[in-house]
Amino acid sequence: MKNSNRRNFIRNSTLLGSTLALTPFVNFAKKTTDDKMTGIVSNSKKRVLGKGSNSIEVSALGLGCMGMSYHRSFIPDQKEMIKLIRKAPDLGVNFFDTAEAYGPLTNEVLVGEALAPFRKQIILATKFGFKEGKPALGLDSRPERIRQVVEHSLKSLKTDYIDLLYQHRVDPNVPIEDVAGTVKDLIKEGKVKHFGLSEANSETIRKAHAVQTVTALQSEYSLMTRQPENDVIKVCEELEIGFVPYSPISRGLITGYINERTRYNASNDNRGTLPRYQRDAIVANWPLIDILKEFGDQRGLTVAQVALAWLLAQKPFIVPIPGTTKLAHLQENMWAADYVFNNEELKQLNDAVSKIKIVGERYTGRSAEQTNK
Ligand SMILES: NC(=O)c1ccc[n+]([C@@H]2O[C@H](COP(=O)([O-])OP(=O)(O)OC[C@H]3O[C@@H](n4cnc5c(N)ncnc54)[C@H](OP(=O)(O)O)[C@@H]3O)[C@@H](O)[C@H]2O)c1
Repeated sequence: MKNSNRRNFIRNSTLLGSTLALTPFVNFAKKTTDDKMTGIVSNSKKRVLGKGSNSIEVSALGLGCMGMSYHRSFIPDQKEMIKLIRKAPDLGVNFFDTAEAYGPLTNEVLVGEALAPFRKQIILATKFGFKEGKPALGLDSRPERIRQVVEHSLKSLKTDYIDLLYQHRVDPNVPIEDVAGTVKDLIKEGKVKHFGLSEANSETIRKAHAVQTVTALQSEYSLMTRQPENDVIKVCEELEIGFVPYSPISRGLITGYINERTRYNASNDNRGTLPRYQRDAIVANWPLIDILKEFGDQRGLTVAQVALAWLLAQKPFIVPIPGTTKLAHLQENMWAADYVFNNEELKQLNDAVSKIKIVGERYTGRSAEQTNK
């Protein structure tokens, strides 16, 4: 595409964004036909994770469901969360993320109930990997435990297959080849469709992939957590594995909503214990919010939208899964996929952001030890 044509395309796509965002995911096929008639190809709202027969087509952004019942301070009325999840397909979402550990168990039940009417049209991802599903008790990816978790997840999720099953954290006591082999068997049995890893390092990804093709790596990645750029994103690109950034707006930090007065509920929020979410770090990191706000203000975007659009601009195989309990935030986040950066503004934004040294680690203690394994 010539430069001027590309610019027109980008402008048209952006102008059309709000209309397209209201197109239900299930109507994509029709929309593509319509787009052919108008000469505008706008498939940007769908992305592919993984390779060939091990790939899945998903919405450009998924919905992280964890915070609806776990780790984000308040637990909203679950009936309202069911309504929210059921509206998501109308906003273009077909990719939903949960885990045995969220609750534990309660989040899968919520997601299963909410998605039962759409089960065949959506992509459902869950995870195994903790003793009794409780991160505080440590890791457990023994093959018999994986099978036990899958049977339980299938019941909780009200389904007979899991589209994408991730190992939540790499278990140093179980060879990754045994984990991959167990998931491979579950795939042969039809209980699982695809295999994923979370917070695995390059070596583990390669070993697992040699036994059972990995469809996606889910790890923390955002404008505040850039470590995956050092190696694992490159490995994903090489092996054609999708990359799913979790906490893509840094657990709410990269929105401007969290400030030095924010209080976390100690009984249901890990942020109270994480260095980056403490007062001094929030204040020290505020210049990042200022940059994103200034960029967004000129373009009709919120801070969260700039952060999510930036992630989408990094690689075509990146699919962030922001979590929210608010329909308004879900819509806002999905609209981020309408924004297409031109090279010049992306460079300017990157230059400005690169001058900021993020203060405060994302994890400490055992949580930190369990990453990049
Ligand atoms: N693999 C793993 O180890 C792992 C770890 C953590 C999370 N995850 C997955 O990733 C998903 C997302 O991660 P996360 O919840 O930790 O972090 P996140 O998506 O970066 O941030 C979620 C927080 O941001 C707020 N928020 C969302 N959109 C907003 C908007 N437009 N404006 C203002 N605030 C907004 C939400 O509050 P409101 O509810 O008020 O919108 C929520 O508190 C989880 O649901 C889970 O599925 C995976």
